[in-house]
Amino acid sequence: MLDIDKRERQLDEARHYVREQLGQDSSGHDWWHIVRVTNTAKRLAAEEQADGFVCELAALLHDVADEKLNDSAEAGLDKVRTWMTGQQIEPVVLEHVMEIIGTISFKGGNQPPVTTKEAQVVQDADRLDALGAIGIARTFAYAGWKGHAIYDPELPYREQLTPESYRSGATSAVNHFYEKLLLLKDRMNTRSGKALAESRHRVMEAYLKQFYAEWEGTDGDWAVPSDTAGASL
Ligand code: ADP
Ligand code: NI
Repeated sequence: MLDIDKRERQLDEARHYVREQLGQDSSGHDWWHIVRVTNTAKRLAAEEQADGFVCELAALLHDVADEKLNDSAEAGLDKVRTWMTGQQIEPVVLEHVMEIIGTISFKGGNQPPVTTKEAQVVQDADRLDALGAIGIARTFAYAGWKGHAIYDPELPYREQLTPESYRSGATSAVNHFYEKLLLLKDRMNTRSGKALAESRHRVMEAYLKQFYAEWEGTDGDWAVPSDTAGASL
């Protein structure tokens, strides 16, 4: 009983800490990204019989250490470790959470697969937030933040990205679909994560189809629906 109270308190402290750390971010890592990933991680953890506390704490903390928001990836990880130590997070939980947040990032797609069930759950939850309607919105928001174009037909998308070329180098919001988003459904770890990824994948395919049709001017049709034909505008 006491333990559950303590864990609830620790999660509450984590929520406050993360909200204060990420509140102002506009690169796709705002507080509501954390809320969505945490909710998805809890949902997947229940489906996959993973440790719910480890998944929830790691999901809450997973972007505090992001290298975009810190002097370096190591400095970010040290900051999270120091915070968890100060909260008296149990050592086995602390080490597991550190391992999760240090290994789940996409970084161009050539990272080794994560090993624990909890890391698989949190990685899937983070990836799911890059897909579907919300993923599309985040992609264009990120491209705006970076000063990239929505689309440039003269800019080919890149294959075999390194962590450095993933973060820098010329790209566009539409290219990001080919450089990351459309690859994710085949890289999900869990069964339930894969099922959700597949439906979000279809949303992105339909979106791109409509995007290109509008770009080329081949979308829709000119005919005025018959019940409004002749009506004044
Ligand atoms: P996370 O840490 O949440 O997995 P990232 O830090 O890689 O994701 O990126 C944050 C959001 O911005 C994600 O939705 C991601 O797909 C998107 N994003 C990352 N790089 C680009 C890019 N070059 N162009 C457009 N969107 C991007
Ligand atoms: Ni994230």
